Amino acid sequence: MDGTVVTAIGTPNIALVKYWGKRNSEINLPMNSSLSMTLNETLNTTTSVLFSDDLKEDRMYINDELQNIRDSANEKSVFAARALDHLRMLAGAKSHALIVSRNSFPSSAGLASSASGAVTLVYAASNALGLKLPADELSIITRQISGSACRSAFGGFVAWHKGNADDGSDSCAECIAGKDYWPDVIDIITLVSSAKKKISSSEGHAITVKTSTLYKTRPPVAEERVNRMITAIKERDFETLAIETIKDSNNMHATMLDSYPPIIYMNDTSKEIMMAIHELNNDAGRMIAAYTFDAGANAHIITRINDKEQVMEKLGSIVGNFIVAGQGDGPRLLGDNASLISNEILSR
Ligand code: DP6
Repeated sequence: MDGTVVTAIGTPNIALVKYWGKRNSEINLPMNSSLSMTLNETLNTTTSVLFSDDLKEDRMYINDELQNIRDSANEKSVFAARALDHLRMLAGAKSHALIVSRNSFPSSAGLASSASGAVTLVYAASNALGLKLPADELSIITRQISGSACRSAFGGFVAWHKGNADDGSDSCAECIAGKDYWPDVIDIITLVSSAKKKISSSEGHAITVKTSTLYKTRPPVAEERVNRMITAIKERDFETLAIETIKDSNNMHATMLDSYPPIIYMNDTSKEIMMAIHELNNDAGRMIAAYTFDAGANAHIITRINDKEQVMEKLGSIVGNFIVAGQGDGPRLLGDNASLISNEILSR
């Protein structure tokens, strides 16, 4: 088969100020700006892409399962297909793509598999087409597959500016501080549940915007919080970073609960973790750690390397599994020997 296989690796990000609520769900334009930390390759997605005139259609495998990427019932697939078409248009290419992608962690369990999946797909496919996209263009194209994924186009601390343009041309992420600026800030992920969430985040965004009265107060509050966070990061002020992180997670989950029907992603273990972190901080008389929850029950504990053991000791009686992730650098290309496209897959 003609064509060259390009393989890339990308990672999730954890939002410290959350994206929740869209003003346009076709191209994922958010109601408010958000801010995150890109994680290192402890959790990752690896994706290989081949464009070839010998392929009769686009084919995509995620974790060995063939996806129907033109399935109109699956919004993420439709968005991925649209991103591929967009990249082909930019490159003036017509060939179909074979995509093989693998996550190193459970999908749809609130560990941002869609973020690392989307950014890695766009990065690998754009490189396979010979497009050397700058990170902001990569971010904008990725945003259209999954909003939060646009932040994974950059490393370190990243702000996604909501933008004002109707076409989304200014709704793009930006690196606030690279991964080496404040490297002692880490994320300890506690695996509370690996079950697939019942309400996808895409559905959740819409239900909350439509039904929650509490939500109406959120966008301006989150917008101001992003600005305070940017200052805290520049000043390496952990106290502010931790307090704002906790408040923002709780604010987002409050609007979820205020939705009708209510959306509840956290479970009793998540709440036990929250209270244990408050106890830890109170006992120490300083902010040792913050918790934050995405659309799932798993807790992300934001702390500093020197306080890692204390956090794990405190949470050890509640949860058994920890994944410790530092900050990462955004997606990168891997060598030929990392290709996931085997002869067996080619011959299918
Ligand atoms: C709670 O990015 O998954 O993780 O744009 O529909 O793909 P879509 O939504 P998604 O929403 C993520 C929501 C969040 C908060 C965040 O990461 O900012």
